[in-house]
Amino acid sequence: MRVLVVGGGGREHALVWKIRQSPKVTKVYCAPGNAGISEQATLVPIQANDLSRLLDFALKEEIDLTVVGPEEPLTRGIVDLFESKGLSIFGASQKAAELEGSKGFAKGMMKKYHIPTAAYEVFEDQGDAINYIRKQDAPIVVKADGLAAGKGVILCKTVEEAIQSVDQIMVKKVFGEAGRRVVIEEYLVGEEASYLAFTDGKAILPLASSQDHKPVFDADEGPNTGGMGAYSPAPVVTDEVNQRIIEKILRPIIQGMAEEGRPYKGVIYAGLMIHNGHPKVLEFNARFGDPETQPVLMRMKGDLIPILEACIHGELSQCQIEWEDKASVCVVMASKGYPGAYERGKVIEGLKEVSKMEDVFVFHAGTAFGDGKIITNGGRVLGVTGLGANIPKAIERAYEAVQKISWEGVHYRKDIGKKALCRSY
Ligand code: AMP
Ligand code: GLY
Repeated sequence: MRVLVVGGGGREHALVWKIRQSPKVTKVYCAPGNAGISEQATLVPIQANDLSRLLDFALKEEIDLTVVGPEEPLTRGIVDLFESKGLSIFGASQKAAELEGSKGFAKGMMKKYHIPTAAYEVFEDQGDAINYIRKQDAPIVVKADGLAAGKGVILCKTVEEAIQSVDQIMVKKVFGEAGRRVVIEEYLVGEEASYLAFTDGKAILPLASSQDHKPVFDADEGPNTGGMGAYSPAPVVTDEVNQRIIEKILRPIIQGMAEEGRPYKGVIYAGLMIHNGHPKVLEFNARFGDPETQPVLMRMKGDLIPILEACIHGELSQCQIEWEDKASVCVVMASKGYPGAYERGKVIEGLKEVSKMEDVFVFHAGTAFGDGKIITNGGRVLGVTGLGANIPKAIERAYEAVQKISWEGVHYRKDIGKKALCRSY
């Protein structure tokens, strides 16, 4: 079987790494991939958003299965395009991916199908948004409606700050067209978790729980990033919470999408805030999380390919997944300046030594080859992932590897996984 993975970050490296282990797979391509991915797949120099060239490639190379990583190709309709040409592709259709592409749409779905989430209003007019904010208490959350690479959310401590944020988003357009509409939302307290599940539009097959670390600095200080590290499982997702997520969030959203004529197939990601055992949805994403996928797939036993195929063919109710009874921790190593403007082209040292370590895998994100060496080529550069008998052991393993890797200006959080230690571990 010939597989194409679309994307070139740490999530795609994890997908390629797992897919490569399938006995059904003879060849893996990745477009555009990165230096690390080139060890398990043939890189194809086509960007993830270049839908027509990706289609030409898949037809010419007789790809049996395409797996989509990032949100943009999904919201642009890559799944619909490939399916219209008879190609098999894993991911949400354009109409289903709107759940991520428009926060206003997602909130409307949650309201209609009684899914727990923060109270909110959507505005297309700046004046209306400001009038509404003046009637609310701070803290308050202001979100650009459209895709903003995970950065379109502003947590405002005061009403004044919220009003300024509306100006930034709707008038100054700091997130571009994503800010045509804004969502003003109640501020939720609690502990966050990421919950991913496979679905064929009817059946739901959850992946192991995980927790991301969005802010750039230790103790959740500083601006938000795409994610500075993740661990799995997330102890905040107890069996009881798990049951609530499935019954109160996943079943109604998947049924609701079907009722709306937007059947959802692929992987759905619910970003949750959990307070006293009750989960509320912060956002839905129409794809695997990055970096959550790295520690989650590291714990997955068995073959991923039959699950992806079952989602496409409506046969997911017959599938199960077994998980390693171990914990995994992924520490993201980033370039100087990230999440702002960052440097590229720095030579990465220590990768060879770490490749000999057991229970450690380094998933590459922003890396490339330069003069035969592996160099930095993005904000998030590596996801160093360790497996251990429990969270403390996995933390130890991951940081042991992190300490062997270096480049000029590297930074990373030193407290990935620490929150889990306050719980049952
Ligand atoms: P989102 O992209 O919607 O997941 O938002 C990014 C981050 O902002 C989340 O991971 C939360 O940490 C935070 N956030 C978003 N919405 C809220 C909310 N209503 N209350 C509190 N924090 C929030
Ligand atoms: N780690 C957050 C995301 O994938 O959206």
